[in-house]
Amino acid sequence: MDVFKVSGNGPLRGQIKVGGAKNAALPILAATLLTDETVVLRNVPDLSDMRFMLEILRHVGAETVQPEPGVWEITSKKITHVAPYDLVRKMRASVCLLGPLVARMRKAEVSIPGGCVIGPRPIDLHIKGLKKLNCQVEIANGYVHVDASEIQGGPIFLGGRSGSTVTGTANIVMAATLAPGTTRLECAACEPEVVDLCNMLVKMGAKITGIGSPELVITGVEKLHGCEHSVIADRIEAGTFVIAGAITRGDVTVKGIAPKLLGAFLDKLEEAGLPMELGEDYIRVLPYEGSLKTVDVVTLPHPGYPTDLQAQLGALMTQTEGLSIITERIYPNRFMHVPELQRMGADISIEGPSAIIKGASKLSGAPVMASDLRASAALILAAFAAEGDTWIQRIYHLDRGYERFEQKLSAIGAKIERLKDTDMPKELLED
Ligand code: EPZ
Repeated sequence: MDVFKVSGNGPLRGQIKVGGAKNAALPILAATLLTDETVVLRNVPDLSDMRFMLEILRHVGAETVQPEPGVWEITSKKITHVAPYDLVRKMRASVCLLGPLVARMRKAEVSIPGGCVIGPRPIDLHIKGLKKLNCQVEIANGYVHVDASEIQGGPIFLGGRSGSTVTGTANIVMAATLAPGTTRLECAACEPEVVDLCNMLVKMGAKITGIGSPELVITGVEKLHGCEHSVIADRIEAGTFVIAGAITRGDVTVKGIAPKLLGAFLDKLEEAGLPMELGEDYIRVLPYEGSLKTVDVVTLPHPGYPTDLQAQLGALMTQTEGLSIITERIYPNRFMHVPELQRMGADISIEGPSAIIKGASKLSGAPVMASDLRASAALILAAFAAEGDTWIQRIYHLDRGYERFEQKLSAIGAKIERLKDTDMPKELLED
């Protein structure tokens, strides 16, 4: 298995380009099933999650062509309605097939995705939404069985105990595009990735108003047609690179991202006193002396502080003098990186849904274990600020959501290399 060897070696300097957003590309790939015409997608990141989703699309009958890197032409002339367990279990986001299969086939059988390390990943709101669209939904043998022969638009409130649902909103919007009548979807997710999906659906002929607001109105149409669409930039990758610049006190320009996609995140960093220069399509982190200020942050649905940038901020706050508090309201168990950061010398205690981070800690390199996509990134960020070498194992978690991570960061001075676990010093290999 691959590992990363990271050595702390001072400020990162230079420009780093952001790729296409994983969490936009996944539902957008599923949305190509809504038409029998060709959809051309650009700026699709090359990630293992993308490869899984493309494999599932081919399984249900889509034809996928990659004329050049980052571009996919997808045609789903004839498709089946079953997404099997052995494919869905590899990636939860395949639950996004529910909406398009229901809309196009008027039936669907999609395996229920498992949970993951950041906590249970229920789909009760997805099911509630489909039932509100007059679908018959049954859970049996680990599958969601949907009979949508009588599908009908209608009013839906899609909020749950943690607020809105991103992929739940994606599923119900996609199902409603081809459902007779009008669907008024309240407490819809407003994440930029949902906006990007809706914008592409409109290009395909869908009738959607209120895009970007918590209330969407979808008027069903007979058919959707093909289109060309370029996936938006990945704001989470961008935020991760911003923190790479900040934690090394470097001078890093993150290019290809509109700062407005990172409102709450940049607001918190400004509150912490990080010097930044914001342009139309870039964020430049500037060097600073002394300590940043502590923060008290709560993760919330967009436009609140994004849960996907919670672990990365925690890594930065280990270097900030004083007590910072990070409260996780979306996935209360999303602190798997904390024990690993403690191995590197961080002083963090978990009190319920909050991490209390006492800085500034002198971090030292150690063998650590990645556990989920964003926790892996947090460990690497901490390793940039640590004394000595850090070996990060199970980096397949990182490969799910960050394209060419080590190449992009090495290009701005990071000492990070991808090796095999057998390259690790014998005394470090886990027993
Ligand atoms: C999306 O997951 C993202 N994944 C996640 O990114 C992200 O962390 C999450 O949204 C929150 O922003 C993709 O877009 C592929 P939710 P999703 O439904 O849609 C609860 C990453 O690192 N809930 O918005 O699965 C749920 O338990 C990944 O890139 C229900 O209770 O998240 C959670 O507490 C990790 N019932 C909250 O809502 C439901 O039916 C938000 O979940 C659905 C969700």
